[in-house]
Amino acid sequence: MAAGFLAPLPVLTGLLVILCVGRWVEGGKVLVVPMDGSHWLSMKKAVQKLHARGHQMVVVSPELNMHIKEEDFFTLTTHAIPYTQEEFDRLLLGERYQVFERMPFLKRLLKTMERLKTVSSFFQRSCEGLFHNKNLIRHLNASSFDVVLTDPVHPCGAILARYLSLPSVFFLRNIPCDLDSEGTQCPNPSSYIPRLLTRNSDHMTFLQRVKNMLYPLALKYICHFSFTPYASLASELLQREVSLEDILSSGSVWLFRGDFVLEYPRPIMPNMFFIGGINCANRKPLSQCVLASISSGQFVSQQLVNSQETIGELAIFIG
Ligand SMILES: *[C@@H]1O[C@H](CO)[C@@H](O)[C@H](O)[C@H]1NC(C)=O
Repeated sequence: MAAGFLAPLPVLTGLLVILCVGRWVEGGKVLVVPMDGSHWLSMKKAVQKLHARGHQMVVVSPELNMHIKEEDFFTLTTHAIPYTQEEFDRLLLGERYQVFERMPFLKRLLKTMERLKTVSSFFQRSCEGLFHNKNLIRHLNASSFDVVLTDPVHPCGAILARYLSLPSVFFLRNIPCDLDSEGTQCPNPSSYIPRLLTRNSDHMTFLQRVKNMLYPLALKYICHFSFTPYASLASELLQREVSLEDILSSGSVWLFRGDFVLEYPRPIMPNMFFIGGINCANRKPLSQCVLASISSGQFVSQQLVNSQETIGELAIFIG
């Protein structure tokens, strides 16, 4: 009996392998909605690798941008935004030297808030520019993409994935206000996870834990004005009330460009992966002096290998 049952096993295994390989060699169609600036520089490496593995990459970006330029490993599709080149230069590049200016704390805080508001409003309006371009949306919808690869810190790509009913892969350094743990329903205890800007470690005294709980409240205000408009836009497009957490909860895989070698450990969900090594794609050998001072050097290079494997797995996931 047992032999009769086991006989078809190699055949079944063979069939399964053929089915899987069959999917891989086809190559997928990936819609990439990047965040401009340094975020794109790391994502570009992943796009290049996916293209090398036979996937078709289409990048959507506003026509005015900092670093997203044509390359031979993706097709660039741009959309109009309600800004002139002059306004764009002034907004995003004009005031960047302000960070080095000396000024009283309160003045600096107000100026930073004002600047953050201007920049977030720029990104929101550029996202509206994408959705108002009906021809482009129709074209993207008709192109039958397999997946959207996007940085959720600019939630436009996540909304687009939801609007076109496509699965999404998030590729990010981090996202403020714990939107990642809310989007993935990941445990996120304040008593153990040091919050942004607190300089706490994962071992906190009682007072540090109080600080750890209070700091996020201030950040909530920033997240309110920078992210709420996206929830309104998504609600309007999907014709029902949705929050940003709802939108982010549809992310299939979260790839974090960080690593526990450099950060404190925290709980993660099975669809969260750390690929910090990808930031070292353009690496140069360290000098002897630096090497001597890094005791965990071996660890870092191991992480680099791991991250390249993760990109490979991502390619397989898409295929
Ligand atoms: C995309 O195309 C499908 C099939 O033609 C259609 O049902 C759907 O409404 C379209 N979605 C958008 C956002 O245009």
